[in-house]
Parts: sequence; C-alpha cells; structure tokens
Amino acid sequence: MDILSFQPHTLIEPFRVKTVTPIRMTSQAQRTAALAAAHYNLFLLRAEDVLIDLLTDSGTGAMSAAQWGGMMQGDESYAGSSSFYKFEQSVQEITGFKHVIPTHQGRAAEHILFSTVCRPGDVIPNNFHFDTTRANVEANGAEARDLGIAEAYQPDFLHPFKGNMDVDRLQRTIADVGSGRIPLVMLTITNNGVGGQPVSLANIQAVSELCHAHGIPLFLDACRFAENAWLIKQREPGYADHTPLQIAREMFRYVDGCTMSAKKDGLANIGGFLALNNDEWAERCKLRLILIEGFPTYGGLAGYDMEAIAIGLQEALQEDYLSYRIQSIASLGDKLMQAGIPIVRPTGGHAIFIDAGAFLLHLPQNQYPAQALSVALYQAAGIRACELGSVAFGRRHADGSEEPAALELVRLALPRRVYTQSHLDYLVEALTHLALIANQIRGVQIIWQAPQLRHFTARFALL
Ligand code: F0G
Repeated sequence: MDILSFQPHTLIEPFRVKTVTPIRMTSQAQRTAALAAAHYNLFLLRAEDVLIDLLTDSGTGAMSAAQWGGMMQGDESYAGSSSFYKFEQSVQEITGFKHVIPTHQGRAAEHILFSTVCRPGDVIPNNFHFDTTRANVEANGAEARDLGIAEAYQPDFLHPFKGNMDVDRLQRTIADVGSGRIPLVMLTITNNGVGGQPVSLANIQAVSELCHAHGIPLFLDACRFAENAWLIKQREPGYADHTPLQIAREMFRYVDGCTMSAKKDGLANIGGFLALNNDEWAERCKLRLILIEGFPTYGGLAGYDMEAIAIGLQEALQEDYLSYRIQSIASLGDKLMQAGIPIVRPTGGHAIFIDAGAFLLHLPQNQYPAQALSVALYQAAGIRACELGSVAFGRRHADGSEEPAALELVRLALPRRVYTQSHLDYLVEALTHLALIANQIRGVQIIWQAPQLRHFTARFALL
C-alpha cells in the first residue's frame, strides 16, 4: 500500500450541482388521492406530486453549463441560421450522413420518414418498434414487425447483446414479403422495449449486409446511440480500446440513415432529427418537413435548441459521463437483485426494467401486473415508473379481444445527470418493501381506452 494505490470503489457523479429543483415529499394519503384522481394512470399525475420521476429519460436530463451558454448564441433566423450549421456539423461528425433534417422530436422524424417511404401493405422489420415508431408505421397502412432475438424475451437469460435482430428471421421475412414491399429495415439502439439492451456491431454489420444484398436501406432508431456505443466498448471483443465516438461512427457507417430523439442521447430537453444519404428521399422528406414542422434549417426547433443539441451530442459521448451512467445503472441493478427483485438481465442503458410478471406471480396478464406494480410504487414511495407491458404493447383486436405483450415490464428510466446515488438507494428501499408485501398488490382493469397509444390516456380501476 502506498499513496498511489488508492483505488476507490465509490461511484461518484462526474459533475457538480449548480442549479437545483426542489422536490416535494407527499403523504401516502395525498398520493392515494392523487392516484384516484389520475384514474391510476401515472401519465395523468401532476409532476409536482412526484418525488422521484423515473417515468422517462426523454427530455428530462439536466443540461450542462456549456449547453446553457451555447443557447445564448442561438441564431433565430428563419432561414440559414448559424445554429443550424453547428447542429448539422455536430450530427455529421458523428453519423457521417449527407442530409440532416431537424425535427421537434423523434416521432416527428419517424412521421416524416414513414409517411414519405411507406405504402399500405408494406412491412417494416425492426428489432423492436417503440410505441411511437409502431404507431407511425401503422398510421401509414404498413405493418410493424418485431424481429428481435428470442433471448430478448427471457428476462433472466444472460446475453451481452439482447437488443440484436434475429438475422435468420429477417432473411425469412424478406423471402416471404419480397424486398419490393420492405421500404426499409430499422434497428433500434439501444432496444428500449426489451430492456435498454444493446445491439452489437457484428449484428448491425450482418443486418446491413443482408439488407443491402436485397437493395433494402437500413436505418437506425438512434435515440440512445451513445449508450449503445459504450456497451459495445465494454462487451464486444475488439472494441475496448476504441473511443465511444469511433464506435458510434462505425455503427452509422453500415447504415443509410437514422431517426433520432435528441431528448435522450442529445442531452437536450427537446429536439430530434432525421439524417440520411439518399438525395431523392431527403428532398421528399424536406418538402413534408416544410408542411408540418418548419423550414429545413430549423425544422420544429428554435435556434437555441439546435445549439443545445449540437453540444449535447458531443457531451453524451464523453467517457467519464458514459462510464458513470452505465455503472450507476448496473450497480442499482445489483442492489435490486440482492434484494431478490426480478429484473431484466444484464442491465443495459438508460433504465432498470423490473419483470413485473415474476414480481407479482399472483396477477394474470389480463390484470396488468406491470401497471399494478407501478401504481403501488407511487403509492408507497412517491416514485413514478413507466409500464412497458400489456398496457403499452398489448394488441387489441377488432372484436375487443386482447393479445398480451410478450413481457410485463416496469421501467425505471433514469433521467441523465439529474438524480444522485441517495435517490437510487431510496428506490431500492421502496422496492425491497414492495417485494415483502407483493401478494397484497392488487391488479387493475382498463375502464376506458383510446384506439391508439392507449397507455398515455387510459383510465384504470383497482381490482
Ligand atoms: N424511438 C425510441 C426507441 C424511443 O424510446 C422514443 C421515445 C422515440 C423513438 C420517440 O422519440 O419521444 O422524441 O418523439 N421514447 C420515450 C421513452 C418517450 O420514454 O422511452 P420522441
């Protein structure tokens, strides 16, 4: 032992806090009343009634001093804004794509892309369509087909790249459907719907080769590209010495375009983009952009938003930040597993996913165990999580019958640079308590639902 042998085990946040937002503890009686008023749908709660908000990691991160400083440089010119050119340069440095089309958030990029390239009867394969992606594909009369590997649907099964696409199933899909009815294939990195799980570079390359052999473009849903790059660095042989930027560039090199929600790995509160190489598609997309978002040098954004994203994209690739972010999620996962709480393993990026089906064994899928657990977590501890089970992903048929989702997950999404380790310790305590009384947690039923994206507005009753 000497001075230089100090090897700390404490995980520290690689930032200091400069501005704070107070959070408010509510009583259990207040939360019980708030839940009833929100019809047991956590999207309908007032945020001020939430102590720790893990509903989403989207747009909820804390911006850096450099980003706030950059926002003061925002050029609000309608056309040719200098902020656009900074934004475009930042996106191109990472992705290498020829055309960069700003949008107000990820789903606007999806809307523009799919409404431009999809025709009724087309099929869009993806490892897993997130809710808005699926809805945008279906809104254009096309079928959204999930082709993730089978291991992704076994929460307990350890696999380093559970986000991968099943290349054989993609091959069979292309053979069955025909390349003429597949305008593009998409890979969601990381794969949010099955646990924030990464997609390997080997898989991106294999899917790319197959698509290109059939003349089909491949796009990334790149919301969490930086976390995916970090997980490749940690898990894929041959990449340990690469920087996250080098890995990100490699990921984008195999594909023809991407949609992006800058509310995630853009470290911004709003924004997104569509980026692609195909000149003809880009022209058509820009015409649609002008119709529904704005002129091509601002899309749906203010100049200052584009400044924040230009800087945020680069900060999201910093090693200190990524190492802390992914490690803090892994260490939270370890603590939950020690407490006997079933989670999707291994932990990936942006969130912990609890296997609510295994947590609440007494509740059948038609009592929505993941919704029931989210409600109980809020009631007990003021923590807001997000249901990613049969409420969000179940399929409702025309005759009213329902096909449950493959997994009943509760997602605890961690906003970037917002909560500290003690907030996470409190979360572990709350879930440990719920595990002890799990059999007292009641199921829920849906009493009203919208025809699309029902989880945002559905009303529930406790059973
Ligand atoms: N794709 C993925 C994989 C996403 O996770 C999201 C958003 C989008 C596209 C759409 O982006 O919200 O900017 O329009 N996911 C958020 C979430 C809402 O909570 O996971 P957006």
